Amino acid sequence: MKHNKDPLILNKIVASLLVGGLVIMGSGYLVDILYHTSIPEKPAYFIEPLDTNQTTAKQEPEFPPLNERLRVVSSLDGDSIKRGKVLFKKCKSCHTTNKGGKNGVGPNLWNVVAHEAGQKQSFKYSRNISEVGDWSFDKLDKFIEKPSAFLKGTKMSFAGIKHPMQRASVLLYLNSLSDTPAPLPVDGSDGGADK
Ligand code: HEC
Repeated sequence: MKHNKDPLILNKIVASLLVGGLVIMGSGYLVDILYHTSIPEKPAYFIEPLDTNQTTAKQEPEFPPLNERLRVVSSLDGDSIKRGKVLFKKCKSCHTTNKGGKNGVGPNLWNVVAHEAGQKQSFKYSRNISEVGDWSFDKLDKFIEKPSAFLKGTKMSFAGIKHPMQRASVLLYLNSLSDTPAPLPVDGSDGGADK
């Protein structure tokens, strides 16, 4: 034999490839048997997605009136003002909150609750701002819910905070931006509106 040519070489290669393949498939199957965990068809629990900007407030259960909401959020465990401060992140791009702070896209918000609207010097408010009068808790609640609906033609281009409890937290925080925070409204009052 000059050359050690095996006429079956091709068959042998194919066969070894096949066997190799079977071993790999087989081991995969074994792993499957060893580690297979069954996934139930239905999850045992369902976590609702957390949506901080929900637009479906109408389908929510009824929320108590503002004075009650303020009472609830101010009596929650922990730093209740901080909760509003965290939510205020949505407002920060336009508003400063420090005493004597600069106006930005929106006016500085120190001493706004229970004070006359549109009073920050050198801020160009929208024409209708004087219609607001004093910013009572109640008016602020409505304004923050949907600025454009509460104050026609407002320059505050912000969609609003739909969740009533979140608004209450923000109001609590806004009220803290003062040397003399206003007393929270009690039954029958809308909070700071009466002169
Ligand atoms: C895109 C910028 C922008 C964002 C975001 C924004 N504001 Fe404003 N805000 C304004 C502007 C502009 C005005 C002036 C409104 C006018 O003149 O009609 C204003 C006015 C106000 C006023 C009345 C102040 C005054 O001196 O009478 C309050 C209170 C207020 N904003 C609170 C908030 C809160 C709370 C948030 C977040 C939940 C917020 N704003 C988010 C731009 C903004």
